[in-house]
Amino acid sequence: MAKLTVRDLNTHGKRVFLRVDYNVPLEEKDGAMVITDDTRIKATLPTLRLLIAQGAKLILAAHLGRPKGQREATMSLRPIAARLAELLGCKVNFVDDCIGEKVEKLAGELPPGGVLLLENVRYYNEEEANDPVFAEKLAKVADIYVNDAFGAAHRAHASTEGVARIVAKRGGKCAAGLLMELELKFLGDELDQPARPFVVILGGAKVSDKIKVIDRLLDKADTILIGGAMAYTFKLAQGFQIGQSLVEKDKTDVALAALEKAKRRGVQFLLPTDNICVTPVKTDKLNKKGRPILDLTNPRTNAEANIPASEEGVDIGPATAAKFREVILGAKTILWNGPMGIFEDKRFAVGTNAVAQAVVDATQQNGAKSIIGGGDSVKALNKAGMGDRVTFMSTGGGASLEFLEGIALPGVAALSEK
Ligand code: 3PG
Repeated sequence: MAKLTVRDLNTHGKRVFLRVDYNVPLEEKDGAMVITDDTRIKATLPTLRLLIAQGAKLILAAHLGRPKGQREATMSLRPIAARLAELLGCKVNFVDDCIGEKVEKLAGELPPGGVLLLENVRYYNEEEANDPVFAEKLAKVADIYVNDAFGAAHRAHASTEGVARIVAKRGGKCAAGLLMELELKFLGDELDQPARPFVVILGGAKVSDKIKVIDRLLDKADTILIGGAMAYTFKLAQGFQIGQSLVEKDKTDVALAALEKAKRRGVQFLLPTDNICVTPVKTDKLNKKGRPILDLTNPRTNAEANIPASEEGVDIGPATAAKFREVILGAKTILWNGPMGIFEDKRFAVGTNAVAQAVVDATQQNGAKSIIGGGDSVKALNKAGMGDRVTFMSTGGGASLEFLEGIALPGVAALSEK
C-alpha cells in the first residue's frame, strides 16, 4: 500500500518533526568545517518549501557522521544550518541540542513557516539504540512526523523509527517527504515494472556487498554488466588468473551460483573481457591501517583472459567499455550502482566515465530511464559533470542497496498508509 506523503497533510501551525539526511561530507579549512558536497541538503528543498508554504513549524532532525554518543565538534550540524539558510533564502534557527527544554521552547516560539535545525541526534547513544525514552523526548516537539531521510531509512534509530511510532500511537500522522517519495518511486515502482530491455550495471569492490542485489535483479533484468574489483571474484570463479587484483576468494561459490542463475533465467551476464592493469610497487609510506601504500605503476591494457601474477586490474579496458556502451544504448531502463575501477585516480576513471557517458546518452538520446543507485556512481557522475543528465540519482548509499535487496526499510515501514 502507498505511504502517506506531505502532500496529503494539512500542517498549518503544526509542529512538524522532519527527519532529513544531512550526513554530508565536510572538510576542515582554517579551523572551520566546510561542506564539500551539499547534494543531500539541496535534495530536501522541495519538501521544505512545500511545508513552509503550508505554514508548518519545521523542526529538522539529522545525524552527521558517527560520533558514538560524544559531542564531537567536527560533527556539529551548525554549518549545515548556515548553508540551508542560504539555499532556502530564509532564516534557519539552530539549537545546540536535540532534546530538552531549550529545544521545546524554541520549537514553541516558531512562527508558521519557521525553521529550526536540531543538533546531531547521534550526540546521544540512545539515538542508535532506538531508546524509547529518548524517542519520547524527541517526540515532545512533534505534532506530525515527516521522514525525508531516505539515506538513513535502513536504520531503526530513534529519529528514523521510534519517533514515528510514538506520533502514530498518539493518533498523529507520519508521512513521507517528497524526496523519500521519489526514492521509493524510482528504486521501487519503476524497477518493479521496468520498460525493457532492463540493463543493470554493477561495480564496486566486493561481490559480498552486492550479491543479494544481484540475486534479486536476476529475477528482473535482461542484462547485467559487471565491472569494478568484484569482476575479479567472478573471473577467479571461472578459473582465470587475476594476478594481484582485489578479490574475495571465499566468495567464488556465490559468484558461480549467480552465473548459473543467470544462465537458467536467460539473463545476459557480461564480465569484462579486457582490463587496465598496473604493476603495484610498495612504497615506504603507510596508510591509515598501517599497511604500505602501493604505487600503481606501468598502466597498460590487458586484452588476455588472464592477468599476469605481478599485475593488478584497476579498470575495465576499452573493448569492455565499448561492449557495455552498445548494451546500455539499447536499454529502456538502466540501473547503475558502483564504479568500474579505481575512479578516484583519474588514470583509472576512464571505464567509469565511459559508462557514465553511455548512461547519459541512452537517457538523453534514446529516452531511457536511468536510475543511479547512490554512493560512488553518483560521485563519479557528479565528478564528470553529468549528474543532471540522468533520470534519477539516489541520495542513499547503504539504504539504496538494502532497498534494492528487497528489505523493508524501518524508516519507511513506520510511516502511515494513505
Ligand atoms: C549514509 O551516509 O549512508 C547515511 O546517512 C547513513 O549513515 P550511517 O551509515 O552512518 O548510518
